Amino acid sequence: MSSFDMTAWSSKQLLLVEQSLMQWVPEAAPAGLGEAMRYAVLDGGKRLRPLLVLASLEACVGDSPAAPMSEAAMRAACAIELIHAYSLVHDDMPCMDNDVLRRGKPTVHVKFGEAGALLSGDALQTLAFELLTPSDSEIPSQVQARLCGLLARGAGHAGMAGGQAIDLASVGVQLSIDQLRTMHRCKTGALLETSVLMGAQAAQAGPQAMKALLSYGQALGVAFQVVDDILDVTADTAVLGKTAGKDAENNKPTYVSLLGLEGARKEATALAEQAHQALADSALMQTQALRALADWVLQRQH
Ligand code: IPE
Ligand code: IPE
Ligand code: MG
Ligand code: MG
Ligand code: MG
Repeated sequence: MSSFDMTAWSSKQLLLVEQSLMQWVPEAAPAGLGEAMRYAVLDGGKRLRPLLVLASLEACVGDSPAAPMSEAAMRAACAIELIHAYSLVHDDMPCMDNDVLRRGKPTVHVKFGEAGALLSGDALQTLAFELLTPSDSEIPSQVQARLCGLLARGAGHAGMAGGQAIDLASVGVQLSIDQLRTMHRCKTGALLETSVLMGAQAAQAGPQAMKALLSYGQALGVAFQVVDDILDVTADTAVLGKTAGKDAENNKPTYVSLLGLEGARKEATALAEQAHQALADSALMQTQALRALADWVLQRQH
């Protein structure tokens, strides 16, 4: 079996994602809005969600997809990153987590004011749907519509926004492990699940592939937030690019507050194993990148 070079794979994909974001996030939006939008999205971020979209496309159709499929996947990769960036801008605002540092830079509301943060988040959210519905493209209309539906569901009341509502309502509250998992699955897991489903949708994958990728995405999505909870306790602000120790300061229930560091690590490991198992049980054709991303989620240092 040929060995898979994840560094080469991700460098290649990341370059294309950065170029596309640079091109698609407009500088010219009025009254400084474009500057705030670009500040929120460009120069920073690990870009896990775009990589998941592209890895999922590859798992479904291999590494030489037809042009409309690659275009749909690159649009989906950027669209989900825009939704994620908007969620971070709002998450950092004083009415939510009140953070001043993100991706190693002052947060958007620190730099552009609260109204600037609110509006740039709003505009990034709608730009995501613009990217998915280009007027001149060979992406079939049904694929465009389905990508919009997936993204709306992942970002909305039953996904990220709903999870953020649970998070804010849970300050100082002792949650059960099931309640905590639901919160993490919504606030963070939903967009990671959506990433893999959008990659599959770009490939026009069938129900079996969708089902396997959903199981992978569900496990990986929660694992990612468990590791985020761990890093908030164990990592340095300089490495994280965001203020460490904020969860305890804000009295948030986390996997670490509920299970302790060792318990949280065990949970993350078990979830990453579930993600691997979902791929092993599937008939997906080329899963190396998805497997490498599951390993990375567990081992990441920031
Ligand atoms: C941070 O996400 C917020 C969570 C959902 C845990 P990331 O750790 O993916 O943030 P960036 O995009 O790399 O900055
Ligand atoms: C964020 O969770 C989830 C989002 C939807 C943005 P956190 O509040 O833990 O994310 P960080 O630690 O600020 O990145
Ligand atoms: Mg938060
Ligand atoms: Mg936060
Ligand atoms: Mg966090």
